[in-house]
Amino acid sequence: MSDLPYPETPRVDALDKVRGKLVFGADDARPGLLHAALAVAAIGKGRIANIDTKAASSVRGVRLVLSHDSMSAVKAAGFILGGGYGFQSFQPMLSPAIAYRGQPIALVAAETLEAAVEAAALVKASYQTDAFAVTLDAQGAETVNQADTPLAKFFPDIKTGDADKIFAEAPVKVEAVFTCPQQHQNPIELIATVAEWEGDKLVVHESTQNAEALRHGLVHALGLTPDRVEVISPYCGGGFGQKNSLQMQTVLAAVAAQRTRRPVKLVVPRAQVFHDASFRPASRHHVRLGADHSGKMLAAIHEVHAQTSRHDLFPGEYAATSARLYGYGSFRGEERLVRTDTQTPGYMRAPFEHPACFAMELSVDELAYRLGQDPVALRLANDTTTDTATGRPFSSRHVGECLRRGAARFGWERRSMAPQSMRGDDDTQIGWGVAIGAYPGIIVPAIARLKVTDDGGVVISVGGHEMGQGIRTALANAVARKLSVPPEQVVAVLGDTRAAPQHLTAGSWGTASAIPTAIDAADAMLKGLAELGTGDVTGRAPALILKAAGRRSLEVEARRKAPGQPDAIFSRLRSGLPSIGGPVYADYVTFSYIAHFVEVQIERETRRIRVPRVVSVADCGRVVSPRTAASQVRGGVVWGIGAALREVSEVDPRFGGFLNADLAEYVLPVNADIGCIEVEFIDQPDFTFNNAGAKGLGEVSMTGVAAAIANAIFHATGRRLRQLPIRIEHLL
Ligand code: MOS
Repeated sequence: MSDLPYPETPRVDALDKVRGKLVFGADDARPGLLHAALAVAAIGKGRIANIDTKAASSVRGVRLVLSHDSMSAVKAAGFILGGGYGFQSFQPMLSPAIAYRGQPIALVAAETLEAAVEAAALVKASYQTDAFAVTLDAQGAETVNQADTPLAKFFPDIKTGDADKIFAEAPVKVEAVFTCPQQHQNPIELIATVAEWEGDKLVVHESTQNAEALRHGLVHALGLTPDRVEVISPYCGGGFGQKNSLQMQTVLAAVAAQRTRRPVKLVVPRAQVFHDASFRPASRHHVRLGADHSGKMLAAIHEVHAQTSRHDLFPGEYAATSARLYGYGSFRGEERLVRTDTQTPGYMRAPFEHPACFAMELSVDELAYRLGQDPVALRLANDTTTDTATGRPFSSRHVGECLRRGAARFGWERRSMAPQSMRGDDDTQIGWGVAIGAYPGIIVPAIARLKVTDDGGVVISVGGHEMGQGIRTALANAVARKLSVPPEQVVAVLGDTRAAPQHLTAGSWGTASAIPTAIDAADAMLKGLAELGTGDVTGRAPALILKAAGRRSLEVEARRKAPGQPDAIFSRLRSGLPSIGGPVYADYVTFSYIAHFVEVQIERETRRIRVPRVVSVADCGRVVSPRTAASQVRGGVVWGIGAALREVSEVDPRFGGFLNADLAEYVLPVNADIGCIEVEFIDQPDFTFNNAGAKGLGEVSMTGVAAAIANAIFHATGRRLRQLPIRIEHLL
């Protein structure tokens, strides 16, 4: 276990990226492609009474029209959180059922994209309509206690001590309700499939976070065997949880390719992605926080209502993170799920942790003002080394150091406590806010194959997907240091079911899973090279050792799982099923932490809110790839600014579906919205957690950002706004 920081290696695929050399799933343009387009349901819920595809079929160049009438023998691949592989249990077009507005009702495959789009618009359906509900409070939205569902086995409510009684008796109390809206990930690369049959073998090119689930989901849906399906996804142009499982259109494209005996490409347009893939569910948070007069927290209660679909229960894990922010004394968390008539929501970037930190960190800020204490000092006073929820120690926790370093770098001591007390030269209202964030430390089992050749080749094949987060660079850094080669010499094969079993890449567990396994493989390689008997291998390049031994190549394999997982977990991994471990382990609990310090400026007349300056200090264990890690944090902060001030998927309860289903109306932060973002890392390895000392980073980066901004807006204006996004009109 080396305790040295890693060097600032440039992103290994940077040049290829800026030269447009990398081929993403949606870019695939193999010869003979048919292009597919979808027709979608125009009602909120019901059944297709009649579907007329004649006009569509007669468009020149159309080779196939699929609807529920022509899909027999295809099965639903099941819900990824219910033993299956899909983002939801419901596979459109297998029956006349319409579960939500915008679901596909027909697929057209044609010689050109234009013909496919023209024909899809000519598909005519008539419907029987049913009543539907698309908001948390709508009539017909059904609320279930998660504790009363089978999910409770994996996602139990948290209860430590009698938080209700202690809160009732606490001398200082804050209590409020917070709401976070439904949102869509909007990765730049749209959701897209190229499906091609090579004889009786199906090969799918698709940008995904979960190649193995696509493979086994297709096996299930189409009645194949695993050796007859391969999924290739070397790069993914953004996923953020939306590409974490089998998509609805993948099955449709595979069927279309089978029927036409041609490769079929289906790129789901953004307006349809809003209805055909997962999204962040709306959620409401009731938080109660009790403390004594000195500011010591005594009790916290976090009750959540979160949206799910009519056909699936998407589990809520909000309180699992809010419980890990402080030493509360006592804690009660409760998750309730509200069934609405939408596609099943899913994991969008810090899915539970961003809303949970928003609700809890505004509450902590309110507590600081109630007590007249500095918000940083109050947080430091309630830091802990023991997890309130389990009583176990944290394997590492440096959030106090994040707060201290961030405060120093930001210049927090120059802040005046009173709201509306800081002004810019032009009479702009200035607010300084702070919040912390947390994200669970999870590990998935991984299998790595490492091959070196006498021409200098170093190839590491491991489960994992490159979604832009920089896992290739992290792998190169870790393997290169072990094998005494330059990082740019290391080639990583990822997202390819032909190379190594692919684990779901999500939950910020990629680094803590793939890197330790790669390090194990590199250690095995060093041992293998030493056994060639050419003398001490320290500091010698593998190619030179191979040459000295007269060998062309050497290959080793290593496998690793989360602490405490049984060996059988590897067969779950191989079968494309979720196989995560943590964040609660036998002897400890692991979370990553971050502290954000934010300045907002609010124009007096227009009430326009600017975020000119952010300082973020992260505790993600050892930083394996400093440059891409800093980019991850900046991206997370930008996402947090979007979550605080911009992003919402608008819903009209009268119609269902999502209204602003394009990038013109789904408002994201752009360059002009972003000021200075300074990033710092604690870079203390957590070797209790794994041999790389790495915890997760991607998602913790955005947790707490929206809270820090809302707290800064309170400091600037005296207005405590508890609903996201915060907009100009809320300050008028
Ligand atoms: Mo992430 S939201 O777990 O892909």
